[in-house]
Amino acid sequence: MDRNLVMNLARVTEAAALSSAPWLGRGEKNAADGAAVEAMRRMFDTVDIDGTVVIGEGEIDEAPMLYIGEKIGDRKDGALKVDIAVDPLDGTNSIANGMPNAISVVAVAPAGCLLHAPDMYMNKIAVGPKAKGVVDIEKSVTENLKAVAKALNKEVSETTVVMLNRPRHDAIVKELRDNGARIKFINDGDVIAAIQTCFEDTNVDMLLGSGGAPEGVLAAAALKCMGGEMQGKLLPKDEKEKERCIKMGINPDKILHLDDLVKGDEIAFSATGVSHGELLDGVKFIKKNVCETETLVLRAETGTIRFIKATHILDKKPEYAK
Ligand code: FBP
Repeated sequence: MDRNLVMNLARVTEAAALSSAPWLGRGEKNAADGAAVEAMRRMFDTVDIDGTVVIGEGEIDEAPMLYIGEKIGDRKDGALKVDIAVDPLDGTNSIANGMPNAISVVAVAPAGCLLHAPDMYMNKIAVGPKAKGVVDIEKSVTENLKAVAKALNKEVSETTVVMLNRPRHDAIVKELRDNGARIKFINDGDVIAAIQTCFEDTNVDMLLGSGGAPEGVLAAAALKCMGGEMQGKLLPKDEKEKERCIKMGINPDKILHLDDLVKGDEIAFSATGVSHGELLDGVKFIKKNVCETETLVLRAETGTIRFIKATHILDKKPEYAK
């Protein structure tokens, strides 16, 4: 895959972040999301790919832009045919409520390489490179915790697990506490939380719990680029959701390993902070019409991890100027 594609993906997530960040704390999650979607969609048309959205804003009749199946990119003759997973704003509530950890995120892989995940919950486990190969989503919380602690040469009491703060996670929380592990709760945004397992200075050793399945594929793309590991299991809530899995070609009972979520190693990934987070700064409003962004760009083929800090002169980008 063209190595410059990741740089163009950074432009795509920067555009979405710059457009949605002004909505911080204004209580309007749809407006924030709409701004991100529109900016991302516009920027994608400047990228030299022949892309199909496989994870997007919804079905064609649910979303005006970035719907599943939508063709995007400049689609010139000979352009690379790719699958695209997008979440223009992961953490819409975070932005609406002025909270941290919202990002804009995309992953790109050759056609057929990203799981077409249905919009339902997925049980997830994610770890960084040092604990790759030691976890198993079918094992108990205690077994996984002990295996991760051993792989990281830590005591169980020194390990930290990140998870969404949801009542559905009460049993996991109890088991972690019974074992004496630390827990970092997040209100939203489990893509960036999974990514944190690959950065030792975030002190996050494992992600557990359920979140959106589409977000699971995006996180898996990033973890694959960085040599981490992720497993998932879809959680259809009723027969209708089960049928939906089957219709999309996925056995709902199957454990989805990293290669099921994201095939091969031609993967490009970009995430830009929208509101402040531990790994990525949010958009900073430096002065009138000058903003800074921070973006994480990843490429699986080389394993390069880049943090790009950019200063944007919005006067020269009239579509953003306020
Ligand atoms: P949205 O921005 O689409 O609302 O997603 C935010 C998020 O926190 C995801 O990161 C996570 O996977 C999912 O919601 C969890 O869902 P729920 O809020 O229903 O627990």
